[in-house]
Amino acid sequence: MDISTELEKAINEQIGIEFAASYAYLSMAAYFERNAFDGFSKWMHLQSEEEHTHAMKFYQYLIDRGGVARIPSIPAPEWDFDSVIKVFEASLDQEREVTRHIYDLYKIAQNESDFATVSFLKWFVDEQVEEEKNVSDMIDKLKMAQGNPDSLLLLDRYALERKAESEV
Ligand code: FEO
Repeated sequence: MDISTELEKAINEQIGIEFAASYAYLSMAAYFERNAFDGFSKWMHLQSEEEHTHAMKFYQYLIDRGGVARIPSIPAPEWDFDSVIKVFEASLDQEREVTRHIYDLYKIAQNESDFATVSFLKWFVDEQVEEEKNVSDMIDKLKMAQGNPDSLLLLDRYALERKAESEV
């Protein structure tokens, strides 16, 4: 059974959302590199790569289901931020927005009784829980640090230890 026109459109939009998230994280990585935070920069590079992988999962799924992939344009991300914590707060906002879009996709798939898409989306539902938790935990730590340079450098070192999903 080929995918419906409505799901095809929504998945194409999701491809754009995931690529936009990848761009945004790359821009955040660049901000941290400018400010000599190697660990936070690595964290954002890994996030950027993960989002690229997510976009490609949707892309491949759409093609596997007989859909037409039409890659949408990607808006330029923010490139400057006021502080370390502001970057992570922007990251959390972005993840919550992605989660909302995944849930919308899920609802469409359920309404259409497209069980293959429901099954495919379950991985993303679980992934979003993990992604939001990781960022929230970092925000909690940054709040404790209260902008203290020594604490920020410790957290930067902690972020440096983050592994790519493929290494976990
Ligand atoms: Fe692809 Fe971070 O959601």
